[in-house]
Amino acid sequence: MAAKGLKLGARRFVAGETLDDFVTIVRALNDAGFLVASAILGEEVSVVEETRDVTARYKELLTRLSSEGLKANVALKLTHLGLGINEKLAAENLSEILAHAATLGNFVRIDMEDSACVDATLRIFRAVRSAGFTNVGTVLQAYLYRTPADLAALGDCCPNLRLVKGAYLEPASIAFPKKSDVDAAFKRLIEQALQSGGYTAIATHDDDAIRHATEFIRKNAIPLDRFEFQMLYGVRRALQARVRSEGYTVRIAAPFGREWYPYFMRRLAERPANLLFLVRNLFHS
Ligand code: FDA
Repeated sequence: MAAKGLKLGARRFVAGETLDDFVTIVRALNDAGFLVASAILGEEVSVVEETRDVTARYKELLTRLSSEGLKANVALKLTHLGLGINEKLAAENLSEILAHAATLGNFVRIDMEDSACVDATLRIFRAVRSAGFTNVGTVLQAYLYRTPADLAALGDCCPNLRLVKGAYLEPASIAFPKKSDVDAAFKRLIEQALQSGGYTAIATHDDDAIRHATEFIRKNAIPLDRFEFQMLYGVRRALQARVRSEGYTVRIAAPFGREWYPYFMRRLAERPANLLFLVRNLFHS
């Protein structure tokens, strides 16, 4: 019963279990004026063959997005591609996906996972950029003290970066423990990124941060083709519609698949009220 209730709860944040379910949801989001960042659920893969299978599934996803004419790119996790086994394997799998995406004119973003992955993720990002892939971006997390320096160091490659507050539990030695400090760091990071030469995806459901960003954008006349807003599937739909109606590009990050558990747990941790929502599901299942 508990497992069924958890699954029902997860459904709010997960855009279907199969690629066919997902395509239907992406089309509906596109029809409502949203772009999509597609992800296949899964992370921490520890078997080499499984990482090859994930790579093949991402290529299949890219092919399907293209053949269906959908406005959707891809976001993935390096531990899904084998980063926990070794860095070279993850980089090879990523390069294979990037090469396929390039033939379809599509783009791939590397999500940022917990702090143990940050150095390797940035190294791999730089390596694929140096290898000539321009259709790749990554993510920076405002809660880490190191992030402004990481952003400055990436400036030379004019990166496409998604900025987030950060979703993992990190020690106070490396990350702001207080939410108000994270919120302030996030606003500073948005300004720093928008002033640099790259493309910025501002990923948040925080009204105050969005207001701060739009004021900064207006004051500094940042062109519309230099940034977008991103939000998660199933989170604050009215806010998603409002930001879109103000004329901004809004991309919805939508994951699909069966391995929803760790993703769902992070979404629960972000908002205590989600736990109440879950408990209600547990009792009604
Ligand atoms: P904040 O937590 O202050 O929330 C603002 C408002 O939104 C609150 O009022 C709250 O009610 C509502 N809200 C936020 N999260 C909610 C939820 N789960 N359910 C319901 N309501 C919610 N992190 C990371 O470490 N690596 C990554 O690669 C990514 N990628 C990513 C992509 C996209 C498109 C988004 C939007 C977010 C991520 N994240 C992420 C997650 C991010 O780090 C952060 O944990 C969440 O976005 C929550 O922070 P907010 O900025 O929304 O602010």
